[in-house]
Amino acid sequence: MTIIVTGGAGFIGSNFVFYMLEKYPDYRIVCLDKLTYAGNLSTLAPVMENPNFRFVKEDICDREAVDRLFEEEHPDMVVNFAAETHVDRSIEDPDVFLQSNIMGTAVLMDACRKYGIKRYHQVSTDEVYGDLPLDRPDLFFTEETPIHASSPYSSAKAGADLLVLAYHRTFGLPVTISRCSNNYGPYQFPEKLIPLMIANALADKPLPVYGDGLNVRDWLYVEDHCKAIDLIIHKGREGEVYNVGGHNEKQNIEIVKIICKELGKPESLIAYVGDRKGHDRRYAIDPAKIHEELGWLPETKFEDGIKKTIQWSLENREWWETIVSGEYQNYYEKMYGNR
Ligand code: NAD
Ligand code: TYD
Repeated sequence: MTIIVTGGAGFIGSNFVFYMLEKYPDYRIVCLDKLTYAGNLSTLAPVMENPNFRFVKEDICDREAVDRLFEEEHPDMVVNFAAETHVDRSIEDPDVFLQSNIMGTAVLMDACRKYGIKRYHQVSTDEVYGDLPLDRPDLFFTEETPIHASSPYSSAKAGADLLVLAYHRTFGLPVTISRCSNNYGPYQFPEKLIPLMIANALADKPLPVYGDGLNVRDWLYVEDHCKAIDLIIHKGREGEVYNVGGHNEKQNIEIVKIICKELGKPESLIAYVGDRKGHDRRYAIDPAKIHEELGWLPETKFEDGIKKTIQWSLENREWWETIVSGEYQNYYEKMYGNR
């Protein structure tokens, strides 16, 4: 079994590469990644010498490069993690989101059609459903919830999802889609809420909470997401969408306070800043389908997962300190300087 994992030098993709190499010692895992600002080759250092692993630095939008890789590797499956992923960046500059998230998906699926594939899996997000109101805790996203994306990021992901389903219907491409809630865990780029707050708290810097801090996200430990994708690519039904989430809703402000407590830092570091444009209020997944069909359930409780994530950050300071001391400083100044 040869699987091309795109975006494997990023947060979830790298965790998936590690998970698959360990669980399936006879699989070949080929990581295709452009190494954008969010991709980090040092993350993959532990597997670089593994004979079952190959890293290829290419853009999923580059048809020739993608075709070449298919000719060399004859993959059985493609799992597409590669995407621009940060909502705030998509508000500043949507263009690259359309390129990588939509056009890149089309290029990968065209190669799948040309060379044949057992499964194309699209790693999508619950953000394609838009948001839910705070005063209706009884509502959850199901696979039937209409697509209603809010940001350039989520609308580009939604566009890709529609294309994936269209390639299934029109060309019979054997596809699956997973729509997961917010992930956290090792190797998450420190522009996202949890690693940003951990890095700032450790440096005694202000903790910038957008708006009133009451927005709700449904948090899932990254390894649980990897397990869900593993189940879907092996046992999921072609043409189907599976929502992935752990009924673990928390307000942003609760998360930031938990991080302060775990690190022994004062809540006086919390600084309310200007809200994100179009800020989605609440995300919450109904995972009944993946539970009933594939037996998936989240295994890591938030209380344990956040402790593990903080511990990882303390033990791997070099990984994220290298990031936050580089180009990231310009990004931070631009996004938070006058907020
Ligand atoms: P990330 O930003 O940490 O990593 C993205 C990776 O994709 C990077 O390694 C980057 O170099 C690579 N990449 C970007 N554009 C590329 C291109 N054109 N060609 C090749 N490689 C490219 O992202 P993540 O948080 O690991 O998310 C991975 C996937 O999971 C994305 O598709 C995202 O939409 C989805 N997702 C993320 C979350 C979350 O909470 N992080 C939740 C649900 C779904
Ligand atoms: P983020 O990690 O960017 O994920 P997403 O927007 O895809 O859900 O943000 C999670 C939540 O945290 C979101 O409601 C925005 C908020 N947030 C802050 O309040 N401050 C920050 O500095 C960041 C990065 C996010």
